[in-house]
Amino acid sequence: MGSEKVIEEKKQGQALLTDEKAGNTKKLYLESYGCQMNLNDSEIVASILSEEGYNTTHLLEDADLVLVNTCSIREKAEKTVRKRLEKYAAVKKINPSMKVGVLGCMAERLKRAFLEEEKIVDLVVGPDAYRELPNLLEEVAAGRDAVNVLLSKEETYGDVSPVRLNSNGVSAFVSITRGCDNMCTFCVVPFTRGRERSRNPKTVLEEIEQLNKQGYKEITLLGQNVDSYLWYGGGLKKDFKNASEIAKATAVDFAQLLDMTARAFPQMRIRFSTSNPQDMSLEVIRSMAKHNNICKYIHLPVQSGSTSVLERMNRQHTREEYLQLVEQIREILPDCALSQDMIAGFCGETEEEHQDTLSLMDRVKYDFGFMFAYSERPGTRASKKMPDDVPLAVKKRRLNEIIQLQHQHGLIRMQQFVGKTVEVLIEGTSKKSELHWKGRNSQNAVVVFPKSGEQIGDFAEVLIEDCTSATLIGKKI
Ligand code: SAH
Ligand code: F3S
Repeated sequence: MGSEKVIEEKKQGQALLTDEKAGNTKKLYLESYGCQMNLNDSEIVASILSEEGYNTTHLLEDADLVLVNTCSIREKAEKTVRKRLEKYAAVKKINPSMKVGVLGCMAERLKRAFLEEEKIVDLVVGPDAYRELPNLLEEVAAGRDAVNVLLSKEETYGDVSPVRLNSNGVSAFVSITRGCDNMCTFCVVPFTRGRERSRNPKTVLEEIEQLNKQGYKEITLLGQNVDSYLWYGGGLKKDFKNASEIAKATAVDFAQLLDMTARAFPQMRIRFSTSNPQDMSLEVIRSMAKHNNICKYIHLPVQSGSTSVLERMNRQHTREEYLQLVEQIREILPDCALSQDMIAGFCGETEEEHQDTLSLMDRVKYDFGFMFAYSERPGTRASKKMPDDVPLAVKKRRLNEIIQLQHQHGLIRMQQFVGKTVEVLIEGTSKKSELHWKGRNSQNAVVVFPKSGEQIGDFAEVLIEDCTSATLIGKKI
């Protein structure tokens, strides 16, 4: 099914590498699919296994252990992983002592059945069980099945220092919440990642401090729903109501966490993802306005512009409430970029409802978008209660209309930067030219400009002279 990423994302499905740790002799080949959260989880896994004698390798054929961190969000994501398992099976024929483990959302969704379905798999580990990897590997070594898919009330890996994989040394992800309580009817995440819990702000700040010392310049606070962050001493968000009065009075919410982070690290850029419209508060927007170092970009998935579809999706807001939120953001943060996630062809979507999506996009004119055709996921409320009745051809046509419109809006937004000077954090060499740098401005737009003695990790003031629908082109001033 069609999907399109308009903003640049980390490449998926390639070997993730980290620095070698002296004395480690075993070789781990690690691949990560899906969201940024998964990539960060892979970094946690690499950290745990580095203590067990494993260094990463980019050669599948060399690996003692192959781990694939999987995504279940759409059928296509799962198919990609199944294809990779075929490849691992071919390599295992040549190297029979190689062990293969499946991590993440597919592991959680399919559990023990994975071992029966895919004979090549030795190990199945859900997103909350990575601390158990050393024990599970012992089980595998002893010739036993190794499955741990328990979901946790507390696990946030707060004390694990992720080793940075394929890092440019400039920007890093820092997880602040795990799980999701929202139960959108189309979404498999609450089933695969469990209930929502937040990480101790102290460990969040310590991790950023370490990154700061290592020379990192930008961090992205991660969660399925960051605006719902709430630390009250640990435990599930849903149990907050039973917390003691002291815990309630000293609780830290997302606006406060943002504020603390921005104050503690004034030299660092701070980003966050993802915001759920229903949980985004004015305090968060005001926190963003208060601090120059909080990037002016909000990923604000809406999924549909139709109130009736939003209701069927169990999103907790209407079209009008969403537009009102966008207006408030524009008022407080006039230069803030916005991006969307959209689902085309959700159960029962009429042509009129689809038109509502296009008209909402016209109102907001998003800078970027992530757009998908609806893919029914087993176990979700939609799969049980609502027929997946929009024909594939119609889904694809609607998806295309959404993508085309997003291209137009993206171009309009990019053109607004032409003639302006923006601050760019240099992330690396441009893919198209050795002579140009590539980086992003505060609004998350990709900027390329000619090199003139700068280094990766430097900030540069760049005058924007031209653009495409995805890239700003300029020169340093
Ligand atoms: N809270 C997370 C959601 C993760 S899923 C976030 O807001 O980023 C990321 C996106 O995948 C969702 O916003 C939605 O647009 C899309 N998605 C989720 N389930 C889907 C499904 N069953 N079919 C198609 N797209 C889906
Ligand atoms: Fe999924 Fe909705 Fe949570 S999209 S991750 S259930 S906010």
